Amino acid sequence: MKILQAKNYDEMSQKAAEFLIERIRRSPDINLGLATGGTPVGLYAQLVKDHQKNHTSYQDVTTFNLDEYMGLSSEDPNSYRFFMDKHLFKHIDIKKSNTHVPLGDTANPQKQCSDYENLIERHGGIDLQILGIGSNGHIGFNEPGTSFQSETHIVELTPSTRESNARYFNSLSEVPFHAITMGIASIMRSREILLLVSGNAKRDALEQLLQGEVNESFPASILRTHPAVTIIADEAAIGSIV
Ligand code: F6R
Repeated sequence: MKILQAKNYDEMSQKAAEFLIERIRRSPDINLGLATGGTPVGLYAQLVKDHQKNHTSYQDVTTFNLDEYMGLSSEDPNSYRFFMDKHLFKHIDIKKSNTHVPLGDTANPQKQCSDYENLIERHGGIDLQILGIGSNGHIGFNEPGTSFQSETHIVELTPSTRESNARYFNSLSEVPFHAITMGIASIMRSREILLLVSGNAKRDALEQLLQGEVNESFPASILRTHPAVTIIADEAAIGSIV
């Protein structure tokens, strides 16, 4: 694993944007795996800024998001589809039909899981996956205990994840109980992974990722076995770990 340090959140976002833009310019038809949450918001803002200024093109880029809440339609402001449109897709020249987010309001969730997995495979797999990390080591919505062999599946959200995500909703009771997420095996099939880690609250998770055992009780630990992972972490997250 390669670790790049950044002074703060803004510098982490800037470095992550430079990393992505270099890959997109090198391979204009790249398949990107994308994440939501607070961590990549600054990265997406930088990509939008670069698109406006330097005209980096997304015409041939295809994207696959990690996850989506069950029961929320794509028009729901709390859905991850809405998040991606708002923070990135609406502001760049990507074709809407090339952007993929698992469907949360589907009548047949199991079929949606296998369809999503097949869709990624039909496109030749993910070239570069962006990840954030939960303070309990989750990646995507893969909570501690998730099998390292898992593919796209439906999960019941843990109380701590629901509470942590409640900040985006009017109240905790509105946070869905289930989500659809790429599995650990699906994430690990990506040819390259970029993990962003920012803030004090993620320091323990980063330490465990770098120094703990590779174990299903800490999902992100599997990244230690991937051949091409880059971590960009800010000082608040990295502290004196490295
Ligand atoms: C989001 C996702 C999650 C987040 C993680 C960190 O698509 O898959 O695993 O990356 O929960 O969230 P933030 O960035 O809000 O701290």
